[in-house]
Amino acid sequence: MKIVCLGAGNVATHMANAFKENGAEITQVWSRDLATAQALALQIGAEAISDLNDVETFADLYLIAVKDDAIAEVANGLKKINGIVVHTSGATGMDVLQDHKDYGVFYPLQTFSKSQPIDFIHVPLCLEANTEENMTSLQMIAMKLTPLIYEVESKKREILHVAGVFACNFVNHLYTLSHEILKENALDFEMLRPLIMETATKVQEALPEQVQTGPAIRDDIKTISKHEELLSKTPHLQDIYRNLSNSIKKTHS
Ligand SMILES: NC(=O)c1ccc[n+]([C@@H]2O[C@H](COP(=O)([O-])OP(=O)(O)OC[C@H]3O[C@@H](n4cnc5c(N)ncnc54)[C@H](OP(=O)(O)O)[C@@H]3O)[C@@H](O)[C@H]2O)c1
Repeated sequence: MKIVCLGAGNVATHMANAFKENGAEITQVWSRDLATAQALALQIGAEAISDLNDVETFADLYLIAVKDDAIAEVANGLKKINGIVVHTSGATGMDVLQDHKDYGVFYPLQTFSKSQPIDFIHVPLCLEANTEENMTSLQMIAMKLTPLIYEVESKKREILHVAGVFACNFVNHLYTLSHEILKENALDFEMLRPLIMETATKVQEALPEQVQTGPAIRDDIKTISKHEELLSKTPHLQDIYRNLSNSIKKTHS
């Protein structure tokens, strides 16, 4: 199976490596910057290109893994290709690819950073395709990477994506803010890692609302006031603290 990878960021890097490990051939890596394309192409033995006119015309899959706002531009720049064109975005409709004959979506519901290894066997893949035949082809391709394969249409995928932003991106940002608070007071982030691990582990078995703890759910008014006072020099943190405490209270009232 031949795959052309368009993009060389976090997702492209993980997917291209996972495909290669599972026997597919990544023939080309395209990126608007040749050096970026080369960095990934070198890892997987592919040709690096930076001109969409140089994309080969007979691959099985054209995997567009660029930032959401650039998907349409890259897709429209692909001319006269044979094979299925997919993007990897949670928040972008499949119809952005509709100028192609065969198209779909290959959305991995996971967080990817180039620097962090990931085992694709635990990555759910949400698929969508413009025909049943293409869905079958995408399922066969996806099976090379993971058993966790779901058929999800664009509207539902958008919902999954926004839920994922709360469950992952916002939570990670809150870790960043915790780190700032600790650093400001010469305390080590290492001390919070067991707490972070236990919080994520608990929701593997229970629903998050069943295991909420903290001053807001206990309605410990004195503790909440003390925390707000501690954060008085950083109004943006105080705002977030108040908003989230109110949200917890509302959920559990
Ligand atoms: N990271 C995740 O956890 C994750 C998870 C699931 C799905 N996704 C989806 O996967 C896609 C890629 O995300 P990512 O995290 O891999 O992004 P990323 O690491 O930021 O990489 C973005 C890629 O898009 C390219 N790009 C940016 N602007 C461009 C433009 N105007 N024209 C052409 N190429 C452009 C970048 O090229 P340069 O290097 O030249 O800037 C880079 O190759 C997105 O659709 C995202 O929603 C991401």
